[in-house]
Amino acid sequence: MPRRIYASMLLLMMVWAAAAILLPHPDNPEPSAPAARIDRHAAMPVDVAATLRTSCFDCHSFETHWPWYTNVFPASMLLRRHVREGRAAMNLSEWAGYSRFEQADLLDDMCSEAAHGHMPPPSYLWLHRDAALDPAGIDALCDWTSLEAERLMLSTGGTP
Ligand code: HEC
Repeated sequence: MPRRIYASMLLLMMVWAAAAILLPHPDNPEPSAPAARIDRHAAMPVDVAATLRTSCFDCHSFETHWPWYTNVFPASMLLRRHVREGRAAMNLSEWAGYSRFEQADLLDDMCSEAAHGHMPPPSYLWLHRDAALDPAGIDALCDWTSLEAERLMLSTGGTP
């Protein structure tokens, strides 16, 4: 291929990359702490709140930190799908909208998914080492989820 074509392809790629970086980040309908968020509805130790924030919020809340490559194809597609599916399965920003039974179920799942190493997803940890959970973090999470689930199941009155 003649040099000219290489040069124009390179230029095109640079324009594309610049546009991708400069585009606004998508899909955070409520970027600032929503009132229905889990830590506003359930009392939890600070270390558990921190774990949820650093390890789970990116996919399970409206407070996703979209990385710079969010707008770069094909990472954009994978990333947005992950977040869409994560929020659909469990949205910690809309915790108050779940029934007591759904909350208790999700709490159980949170512990077991984390304890089995399924959450956060291993592929996510490649680029987010700080989101990895250590055994103490998993124990603290599971201690809290079981207490909270028990509290929900024993509580009478309030929201169903
Ligand atoms: C990179 C995105 C991502 C991160 C980070 C993440 N998850 Fe998920 N999670 C998903 C996706 C996608 C699903 C839905 C598909 C599936 O089950 O694999 C899911 C599903 C779940 C479910 C199942 C909900 C149900 O249907 O019962 C639970 C529970 C869960 N995650 C807990 C967690 C916890 C706890 C953390 C943090 C320690 C976490 N996740 C971090 C992406 C993520």
